[in-house]
Amino acid sequence: MKTVFSGIQPSGDLHIGNYIGAISQWVKGQDFTESIFCVVDLHAITVPQNPSAIKEKVLEVAALYLACGIDPRKSKIFIQSENPNHTELAWILNTITPFGQLERMTQFKEKSEKHEVNVGLFDYPVLMASDILLYQTDEVPVGEDQKQHIELTRDLAEKFNKKFGQTFKLPNSVIHKDTARIMSLQNPLSKMSKSDNDPLGTINLLDTVEKIKEKIKKAVTDSNSSISKDNGGEAIANLLAIYSAFKDQSLDITYNELDGKSYGEFKGLLAELVVDKLKEIQGKYTQIRSDEKYLRRVLDEGKDYSINKSLKTLNKAKEQLGLM
Ligand code: TYM
Repeated sequence: MKTVFSGIQPSGDLHIGNYIGAISQWVKGQDFTESIFCVVDLHAITVPQNPSAIKEKVLEVAALYLACGIDPRKSKIFIQSENPNHTELAWILNTITPFGQLERMTQFKEKSEKHEVNVGLFDYPVLMASDILLYQTDEVPVGEDQKQHIELTRDLAEKFNKKFGQTFKLPNSVIHKDTARIMSLQNPLSKMSKSDNDPLGTINLLDTVEKIKEKIKKAVTDSNSSISKDNGGEAIANLLAIYSAFKDQSLDITYNELDGKSYGEFKGLLAELVVDKLKEIQGKYTQIRSDEKYLRRVLDEGKDYSINKSLKTLNKAKEQLGLM
């Protein structure tokens, strides 16, 4: 059975880009893989976070995983900072990571334009490599923006194995081209992002029905007035990608279904689809989030599982290095 590992930072509000690019892919795979999903709080603190807010966010994200369909009988969910093996392996990997390769990471360059640069932000991809390599992971389902980090992870695994002997499995990213990069509803050239300053650009998983409808209504389109496969711009293509993802069908089928429909009518259908799905997720979320004992039990089980499994790889890596 293949092992799948992925994670989301508990920073900002989870949005439909996170759902489409990551969580919905995880849900599909959990029936036939060993699936492990992490709330990566140690990554989140590489940019300033409010201590009481992050505590709440970690539980919110874990509850959202469950509400979106991650089933704790099939998958493990845990909090990164509750398993110290992640930071220990990250330290070890630091010692073989070329400085120049981290300097070339696109996300680091982007984030360092917005935030004061700390060493944690620079080292972020090494902790991510550690997350993945500790579980002998085969597949990492993510959005397009994480591809470079997974390439670095493979490079580090290969380098360690060559230098010290076979220790880590080389993971593959799983990125679906139609849904890998959901764009802002206000700017189709910019990725939908938790840190977007324009609230109309992002649909959050916990947005109210009114907000979701308003955001779709106000989403930018182009100078055409109806859907056509041949002459739609990037903004309408993005809305069609969201529609396809929520309907769980290919873009081709969506184009066939909606060809010739006016943008106004299409937006109405899209709003209905997104509202229905998010209402279902929100209903489950409220139930799960109000039962903190249950949530804590799921996270404790995940913690024990993750510590046991990751310790085997950590010990192997230390043994190869000649450490006690
Ligand atoms: P994060 O928290 O930024 O995003 C979580 C996941 O959502 C995907 N994503 C998107 N997909 C499509 N369209 C978008 N607009 C969009 N925005 C975000 C991301 O690609 C990601 O899959 N470094 C990671 C967290 C991480 C991780 C890991 C992931 C830490 N350790 C180990 C995988 C494996 C991050 O910042 O994701």
